[in-house]
Amino acid sequence: MLQRQLGQGFKVSAIGLGCMGMSDFYGDSDKANNLRVLDEARDIGVSFWDTSDIYGPHTNEQLLGEYFASRSGAREQLQLATKFGILNTKVGEGWKVNGRPEYVRQACEDSLKRLKVEHIDLYYQHRIDPDVPIEETVGAMAELVKEGKVRYLGLSEASHRTIERAHRVHPISAVQMEYSLWSREVEAEVLPTCQRLGIGLVPYSPLGRGFLTGAIRQRADLQSSDWRLQMPRFQQQAFDHNMQLVDALMAMAERKGVSAAQLALAWLLAQDPLIVPIPGTRSTKRLAENAAASECLLSDAELTEISQVLQAHGVEGDRYYSNPQLETLLFADTPELA
Ligand SMILES: NC(=O)c1ccc[n+]([C@@H]2O[C@H](COP(=O)([O-])OP(=O)(O)OC[C@H]3O[C@@H](n4cnc5c(N)ncnc54)[C@H](OP(=O)(O)O)[C@@H]3O)[C@@H](O)[C@H]2O)c1
Repeated sequence: MLQRQLGQGFKVSAIGLGCMGMSDFYGDSDKANNLRVLDEARDIGVSFWDTSDIYGPHTNEQLLGEYFASRSGAREQLQLATKFGILNTKVGEGWKVNGRPEYVRQACEDSLKRLKVEHIDLYYQHRIDPDVPIEETVGAMAELVKEGKVRYLGLSEASHRTIERAHRVHPISAVQMEYSLWSREVEAEVLPTCQRLGIGLVPYSPLGRGFLTGAIRQRADLQSSDWRLQMPRFQQQAFDHNMQLVDALMAMAERKGVSAAQLALAWLLAQDPLIVPIPGTRSTKRLAENAAASECLLSDAELTEISQVLQAHGVEGDRYYSNPQLETLLFADTPELA
């Protein structure tokens, strides 16, 4: 497996593994199967694993904890990322977040226990707390680095201003943002900021929550408990519109002899060497397919063709369902230090 480097020389597999769907949001899953996928990921070198305390809540970290406890030597072979800061993600309710220093410490202690590990390789603030100056939150995260509980620091859904301020307190190694063929907002300010500061960019939902792979052809393909059914881009009208984009991408992928998922990941990798996508899957077959995308190179002509396809079709629907409180948590800013 090819490697890439995030900020401060943190080396990870060029394509990581998002573990969220193994425990939450995307319908049923099976623990024995999840453990098989994790084994396979380790075997083929997809070693950069992503979780969060809110996935489940807690059960996704517990799954990884069970994995580490039962596979001797596994922990040392992996780069483990987890996150803190979101307390509630129920649809229809405001999301609750906490970036206060005392909470950062408690959340880290709790994650270490659930994960059954001595340290976390990359610790992200999952959502920026709009009530707490970023300097205070990152100051507390930096203490965890000093104590050896955490190796590198990251932020998720931060504005470029927040990233700059955080980076002045302690070097930030990775920023995790939604970034994919149908979510390109980071290209305006966040990606250039990461490039300038030498910070890795970790695209989450790099397959458009599965939609860009072409595997979801109708809403009925999703279980009734699937969170995606609530999301704007999966509402019927948007779904039908966006399917035209997917069909065009699939046709292009077929001509190239790759899958649409591989095309989507190869496109991200081509944007900058500091980009490391973390596709999520509960399938060993898809895991291998996604990993192979790290070897898939796109020519300038192909990149231009993709831009033209995106421009021709456009995307209907916001990334998240509409909620004014939730919007303050995307590309978020914080108050200045008093
Ligand atoms: N920072 C944040 O706020 C945030 C938000 C969302 C996600 N994340 C992280 O990012 C990771 C990835 O994002 P995501 O899971 O939302 O979306 P994603 O990676 O864009 O898509 C995952 C979906 O695609 C399907 N899939 C994966 N590979 C496929 C392939 N080759 N062909 C067809 N379908 C395929 C998966 O189905 P199966 O599982 O059935 O294979 C799953 O339904 C998460 O696991 C999580 O760790 C972070």
